[in-house]
Amino acid sequence: ECNQFCEAGIGYGNSECGVSSSSSSKILIKGGTVVNAHHQEIADVYVEDGIIAAVKPNIKVGDDVTVLDATGKFVMPGGIDPHTHLAMEFMGTETIDDYFSGQAAALAGGTTMHIDFVIPVKGSLSAGFEAYVGKAKKACMDYGFHMAITKWDETVSKEMEIMVKEKGINSFKFFLAYKGALMVNDELLLEGLKKCKSLGALAMVHAENGDAVFEGQKRMIELGITGPEGHALSRPAVLEGEATARAIRLAAFVNTPLYIVHVMSIDAMEEIATARKSGQRVIGEPVVSGLVLDDSGLWDPDFITAAKFVMSPPIRESGHGKLSKLACQQGFCRITKNLVGTDHCPFNSTQKAFGIDDFRKIPNGVNGIEERMHLVWDTMVESGQISITDYVRITSTECARIFNIYPRKGAILVGSDADIIILNPNSSFEISATSHHSRLDTNVFEGIRGKGKVEVTIARGRIVWENGQLKVAPGEGKYVEMRPFSYLFGGIDKADAKYLSSLRAPVKRFKATT
Ligand code: URP
Ligand code: ZN
Ligand code: ZN
Ligand code: ZN
Repeated sequence: ECNQFCEAGIGYGNSECGVSSSSSSKILIKGGTVVNAHHQEIADVYVEDGIIAAVKPNIKVGDDVTVLDATGKFVMPGGIDPHTHLAMEFMGTETIDDYFSGQAAALAGGTTMHIDFVIPVKGSLSAGFEAYVGKAKKACMDYGFHMAITKWDETVSKEMEIMVKEKGINSFKFFLAYKGALMVNDELLLEGLKKCKSLGALAMVHAENGDAVFEGQKRMIELGITGPEGHALSRPAVLEGEATARAIRLAAFVNTPLYIVHVMSIDAMEEIATARKSGQRVIGEPVVSGLVLDDSGLWDPDFITAAKFVMSPPIRESGHGKLSKLACQQGFCRITKNLVGTDHCPFNSTQKAFGIDDFRKIPNGVNGIEERMHLVWDTMVESGQISITDYVRITSTECARIFNIYPRKGAILVGSDADIIILNPNSSFEISATSHHSRLDTNVFEGIRGKGKVEVTIARGRIVWENGQLKVAPGEGKYVEMRPFSYLFGGIDKADAKYLSSLRAPVKRFKATT
């Protein structure tokens, strides 16, 4: 039986496609410009048994080695997507890409690892973890886990410790939105921040004021605005700014690093920039939909077209005072300088149609796992906004550092995993639901063309994408355990000691006697 995913086979389990698994375990990439976040140079890269064995000019090899000519092309670390939701149960349905189809799509777009969000089962972290281990059995690409925290008690607190010390999880997400579902209050957030700090785990926040969003939704329905545009109108940027500011201040109060997921507004971006300028350890994660789109699609007269743009926080309007695409790009490259994710959370037309009469029922989420590397290249590098070394940093290296898997991932260095892409800057791409590899029947980036094409993807030493063909099989992907206490935690203990010694001595008072 054929377990390959290929253009012809439309998925796996097709016995007629005749695609064979990648040839040799030894690969030589010749003559390309090897780009790392810190440096770029023309060199050969030699791969053996899934690991980078040599990076230097003029490597000589025997004829048992597969040779790829990369002359005139860029040889870079495979992308790492810090934010995805594969096979996630959400809003009464499940995302349409599972661990196989979503990862196959990722590989076709030059991403070789992603970190997915484990959602607890009825608040149980261990049950959630087991569920995701099951979902990931068909993985064809390396992956790691974040975990959401949706309630608080002693068991959750203990399970967080188990996840960090035994299960390879070093980050937890707190949703300040989705009232009545995933949302947590400030009391829980504070407990979570304290626990994260003690474990050396990174606290992540979905920053929107869920109570106010609920109010905004009621307001729209009362006004008779029930279509997808009501989604954006009900949760304006001020609610994202408020929650971002609140989370940043609470993280400062606890003195622990903070990661704000899917930053979509200038309000939020400015809060993050201000905190970073003052020295606070805050990471802002823009997502590719926010970088290249604006909200105009939500006003499309066709419901399905409009509904495909529904995600939270919403894709914002372009223009004065709002987070235009350009402002987002400028803010991103000049201020936050961290990393870029996707929040790949795909729901097809049938699922989006759940909200045909009420935008509150449209499953929230857009695609991006396959498109990120191309869109960031075209939008940021081709336009001259960032350098190629910064491209590597924001698509791969910084994510590896933040989640403590660098330099095993995120670098082309001797000893690193052989997760490598070859990008041809003179080739071009065009995005369409008819040619993408996700199971989604739509694409929020439909029709976008640009320069630069990932021509080869190598994942753990296997050539999985070449000549427009995917060669992957379920089960080839491996779980990547992530250790706590990343670089973001360096010096936190010293700052705590300084804080304690700075407290004024308590006042000695005489007890009143009667
Ligand atoms: O709309 C979104 N962002 N869906 C995915 C869940 C989340 O909030 O990340
Ligand atoms: Zn096939
Ligand atoms: Zn979120
Ligand atoms: Zn998300």
